[in-house]
Amino acid sequence: MEYKNLLYSKEENIALITLNRPKVLNALNLEIITELHNLLDEVAMDEEVKAVIITGGEKVFAAGADIPFMLGLTPTEAEKLATAFHATFDRIESLDKPVIAAIAGFALGGGCELSLACDLRLATEDAKFGQPEINLGVIPGAGGTQRLSRLIGVARSKDLIYTGKIIDAQTALSYGLVNEIVSNEDLLAKAKKLAKGLASKGPVALAAAKKAINYGIEVDKYTGNCFERQCFALLFSTQDQKEGMNAFLEKRKAQFKGN
Ligand code: CAA
Repeated sequence: MEYKNLLYSKEENIALITLNRPKVLNALNLEIITELHNLLDEVAMDEEVKAVIITGGEKVFAAGADIPFMLGLTPTEAEKLATAFHATFDRIESLDKPVIAAIAGFALGGGCELSLACDLRLATEDAKFGQPEINLGVIPGAGGTQRLSRLIGVARSKDLIYTGKIIDAQTALSYGLVNEIVSNEDLLAKAKKLAKGLASKGPVALAAAKKAINYGIEVDKYTGNCFERQCFALLFSTQDQKEGMNAFLEKRKAQFKGN
């Protein structure tokens, strides 16, 4: 499929999705969000793809939802937009492959929220994060009030969302908002290295780990642990489990096949 606002490439078994609206700092309108959703559906069905990278390129991740696009929206239209954001970002979470956000420059508003839906976040030294919607007379509408609070805690989330302040990569790292800071030159190479490492793991086990964490965090600990046990048990029906354990005993590297 052709995408007007996205670049898409595959390298071995890694999918690379690049937001491509540089003139407006990758501002997210309904069209790009819909394209991203469609592309994620395509990636989900592509058995060659074992891990995904979402980036905005070398200069900016995304400066949030498209402000001119939002200006004249009615409440009904705004709800449709927010629903589209939620559906796309939920699709990242429900994708049974790991998704890495490779972030350079600004990740603001919907851009920050996009990164929050990813499994892991790599940021450059000059990356900047924030939920500045309050300065536009609105609040985060793409899951920010929920995902940010779960990731960095309620107090820090309220600080960011109430004040609209922008934090640097070091602060984001200290909050647990990003996993690692890398140099600008290394961003894509490091993201690919991480993705390739993940692609060498058992894909069924990785998908189970993602599910157990993402769904488990939404329910009480008893239910989450119960779900974890079911995921754990189900993995004993796979060849990958036999391969992983046999490889350990035979002192060799496991060759996982995803079955
Ligand atoms: N929407 C549309 N266009 C945007 C944009 C956005 N969110 N952010 C930047 N742009 C455009 C600018 O209008 C400008 O276009 P022109 O050259 O045609 O004037 C171009 O991108 C470059 O931007 P700046 O000149 O402003 O660049 P800067 O380096 O001086 O500032 C910035 C960068 C601090 C990110 C600043 O652009 C900015 O504050 N952007 C808005 C950030 C924001 O408020 N994001 C939240 C949006 S609301 C949201 O996301 C809701 C939600 O939860 C879904």
